[in-house]
Formats: sequence, structure tokens, C-alpha cells
Amino acid sequence: QDVQVLPESNDFQELLQSLPCERGAIFHPLHFYKGIWYRAHVLEAAMAFQQHFQARVTDIILATAPKSGTTWLKSLVFAITHRSQYTVTDKSHPLLTTNPHGVVPFLEIIYRNNKFPDLTSTPPPRIYATHVPYSMLPESVKTSKCHIIYLCRNPKDIFVSMWHFGNVVPAENFPSLQSINIEESFERFCKGIEMFGPCWEQALEYWKMSVEKPEEILFLKFEDLKADINSQLKRIAEHLGCPFSSEEQNGGVIEDIANLCSFEHLRNLEVNKTGKLFFSQVVENNVFFRKGEVGDWMNILTPSMAEKLDQVVKHKLHGSGLTL
Ligand code: A3P
Repeated sequence: QDVQVLPESNDFQELLQSLPCERGAIFHPLHFYKGIWYRAHVLEAAMAFQQHFQARVTDIILATAPKSGTTWLKSLVFAITHRSQYTVTDKSHPLLTTNPHGVVPFLEIIYRNNKFPDLTSTPPPRIYATHVPYSMLPESVKTSKCHIIYLCRNPKDIFVSMWHFGNVVPAENFPSLQSINIEESFERFCKGIEMFGPCWEQALEYWKMSVEKPEEILFLKFEDLKADINSQLKRIAEHLGCPFSSEEQNGGVIEDIANLCSFEHLRNLEVNKTGKLFFSQVVENNVFFRKGEVGDWMNILTPSMAEKLDQVVKHKLHGSGLTL
């Protein structure tokens, strides 16, 4: 049982002082806690989440590393689970007017704003997202048999996506990454010093748990979603206990959900072109829709950079059965 007692603010400051601290791949100051790098306020929120969140069996937890397709996964799971409430062609579908981060909140953000949020009135299924590793999930999530879906992505594409993100949403005291050497950023990433990094450690942990408890944890890959979204939508719906009926399949519901949540469709919605993230006055919704492709790393990384990161990841995943 690895339940952390939430420190009082002063104690948290003391804890923080005792942790190794470095600038991460996009130059945010990060603190190393139990094998993972966190921003300070996020660590505090993650600890509150770990200590106070009470999971229900009907909950759905979406776990990802930053820049691995969280926004997409949120939209897909919301559309699947709300399809009897809002048909996909419904003009009042929330995904047409709300960014996916508005319909599926991050637990780290809920607990950043309030260490004791009242989440009891949210009707089932409650869908939440998190970037924390499996080991930081609350005991109630691990024991409630609620559904967890983990989405991973090739680390080279994560790095490139993160690099671009860092250029539009710079870290404090760093006006823009453009003035910073990409090689330096990449070196930090290869050492796993990124927000919630190393991303391969996080993926490996969820991977192992998905092998151990497949009925609770579904492990997905961004690349598989891109290759065949329809069959991945079926897997998600089955995992969540709401498989598509043959009437739905024949009626094109799967394709409709895929289209509703497609990169092109979401990106071109007014809310995602001009809106701002509901929990931030700074971050614009459009930064979550850049290219949405597999292999964009080829346009940024040199062959030797790619080889280096591949080796790091291969070494870490060796013998696990997981490839990223
Ligand atoms: P790129 O920067 O490579 O384009 P996150 O949501 O975890 O922050 O990840 C963002 C990445 O997912 C970005 O990758 C973004 O373009 C991509 N993305 C967002 N919505 C998507 C969608 N509907 N389909 C495919 N990719 C999507």
C-alpha cells in the first residue's frame, strides 16, 4: 500500500526542496518524485488526487503522457459513452461547441483548484483524464475495478509534438523555445526529463498492468488509432461494456464517431479554432490540433537523434513485449 499522506502546504514546500529539480525538455522547472518528473503545482495536485479521489466502478479514467493524443482519446470516449444521449449527427452534440478538454477534465486540474472537490453529483459514467503514472493512481482507482484506458505514442513523435507545443506555450522565464537549441531539449527528453516523464516508463507501467488486469486496463496506441480507427473504436466500446450493436454497426455509427472526432473535423470547429482552454487564459484550443500524424519526427529529428532515442526506449522496454 503506497498511499501518500498529503502534506500541508509548508510540508509540501519542504518535500519540494528535497527533490531533485531540473529544467525539462521544454524548459519548465521539474521535480523528480518517485521516478517521475512533475511541475511543482502539478505534483501537489497529483498528491491530493491520490489521497482524496474516491473511484466508483462506473468511472472511466483516461491515462496518457502529454502530447500522445489525449485530446483525441477524450473526444472518442465521450462520443462512445454518450451516444444514446447525443446521436453523432445531433447539432447539440457537446463536442461541436466544447473542446474535448472541456467535456473530460484532467484530475490534476480539478485537484489543483480544490483539494477536496465534490465530485459526487457527477452522473455516471464519470470520465476523467490524468497524466500520472499507474503507481500514483489512488488506491480506490486500483481496487474499484473501474475502467482505465491508456493511450501511448511513439516517443519521437511525442518529443516533436512537445517541442512545437513548447514554442507556442513557453515555460515561465523562457519567452520562446525558438531561441533554444533543439539538441539540448532533445537531450533532456532522452534522459526522460519532461513533464510526467520518462514517457516510456509510464507506458511500460500501464502496459504491465494491462497484461495483468486486461478487463480493467485497455492499452491503446496512437498509431493503431490512426491505422484503423473503426476497429479501435470497437475495442474501446467493448472494454467499456457498451459494445456497438449490429444495428449501430450497420447504421454507420462507428464511422460517424470516427468522423466526429477526426483531426480535420475537430480542428475546423469554431470552438477549436478560436476558443481558449477553459482552465487557462493563456492556452488556445488550437494548440491541441497541430498535424495529428504518425512520423512527423522525420521532419525534425536527424537520423542520429532518432537512433539515439530509439536505443534509449528499446533498452528500457527490453523483454517487456511492449514496443513504442
Ligand atoms: P501533433 O503535435 O503531432 O500534431 P495531446 O492531446 O496529448 O496534447 O496530444 C496532442 C497531439 O495529438 C498533437 O499531435 C495533435 O495534433 C494530436 N491530435 C489532436 N487531436 C487529434 C485527432 N482528433 N486525431 C489525431 N491526432 C490528434
